[in-house]
Amino acid sequence: MTKTSLGADGQRVKDDLKALALFTAGGGGCDRTLFSSAYNESRSWVADRMRDAGLEVRRDAAGNLIGTLEGEDPTGPALMMGSHTDTVRGGGHFDGVVGVLGAIETVRLIRESGQKPRHTIQVVDFLGEEANDHGLTCLGSRSMTGELTAADLDRPNTEGVTLGEQCARAGLNPSGMIGGGWLTREKASAYLELHIEQGPLLELREVEIGVVTAIAGIERLVARFLGQADHAGTMPMLDRRDALAAAAETVLAVRQLGCDAQGAGVATTSRVTALPGSPNVVPSAARLEAEMRSTDPVWLDTARSRLAQEVADKATALGVGVELDWVHDNQAQPLDDSLQTAIIGAAESLGRSWIPIPSGATHDAVHVARRIPAAMIFVPSVDGRSHCPEEMTKLSDITTGIDVLAQTVLALDCR
Ligand code: GLV
Ligand code: MN
Ligand code: MN
Repeated sequence: MTKTSLGADGQRVKDDLKALALFTAGGGGCDRTLFSSAYNESRSWVADRMRDAGLEVRRDAAGNLIGTLEGEDPTGPALMMGSHTDTVRGGGHFDGVVGVLGAIETVRLIRESGQKPRHTIQVVDFLGEEANDHGLTCLGSRSMTGELTAADLDRPNTEGVTLGEQCARAGLNPSGMIGGGWLTREKASAYLELHIEQGPLLELREVEIGVVTAIAGIERLVARFLGQADHAGTMPMLDRRDALAAAAETVLAVRQLGCDAQGAGVATTSRVTALPGSPNVVPSAARLEAEMRSTDPVWLDTARSRLAQEVADKATALGVGVELDWVHDNQAQPLDDSLQTAIIGAAESLGRSWIPIPSGATHDAVHVARRIPAAMIFVPSVDGRSHCPEEMTKLSDITTGIDVLAQTVLALDCR
């Protein structure tokens, strides 16, 4: 293809966003969790939109939806775009969706230009990017890149059903989901993911495009505290072994770690439960879930051992025992320099403002980037809100993002 500019059709994108938003389990915002009927039904709709755009659609072993537009050189590696269409419970209408609908719109624009791209173009709607009830993110992209393990499929949900069993119930063949993964540099030479920022920086800086430099690594922690149940009215304060007090110290330590972090680091405690939960009993046991994220792998590693030491010291001082289980979610992942340069060139050729930006949220691109060159384009989130019903990105910002995505694809196709 020769390099001209393509302009996204705002009405068409708005109609798609509205139509996809109708697939929800209800409540405020959007509720389309992995394997829910709303999600399953929405993906037939996505497949139909891919077909309407001229893509040939297939599902791989992991249930990733893949739309293919054959290029002039069908044997060469494809240019791949994509994201996800599942949501968190009570999430918004833009996370992931903008990347999938934006990629489909890009294909429409390419076809409407009347030119045939040299590369085959692929659009992927990855299965289940959000953390599922088994505590695993990016199910589809892990499988496609060969990173999904048998241990991942053995993870139980709170009812003891494993992820593998859930996949089988959804009609997938779990053993076909693990192994080498089909994505190689021979299959695709580049992956581009358009996504909402999910944070406040672009809006604060009044910039249209974020060129993502790296995606944060994530370490998750489950801490179990064991103290002693005693009468809450009679046991003197200094003689108690209060498991919940030790958990509370940990909440503050996690927060402080995040406040002192490097590499756009953050740390969050998301859940604390305690037993026996009676108003007149000193808590004998507590369980805490937390996570730390940073684009700086060295910081993440040292933060993990510093936190472990601090939690152990604080619990010991309170006479409480503690066990820590760490779950590594994903490594910090720098994105491809040459694709970042292509995105910057595309943004500048369209007169769009941009800044480099790290991603604190995780994305399918983390896993894809370990196999093939990958990059991400961010568009602003209103008030930086995401993973909530208030999540919002202006239509004009979405179409700007699509224009930059399409322009980047054109540039890569000319390489
Ligand atoms: C996914 O959205 C995550 O960053 O946890
Ligand atoms: Mn997302
Ligand atoms: Mn998300």
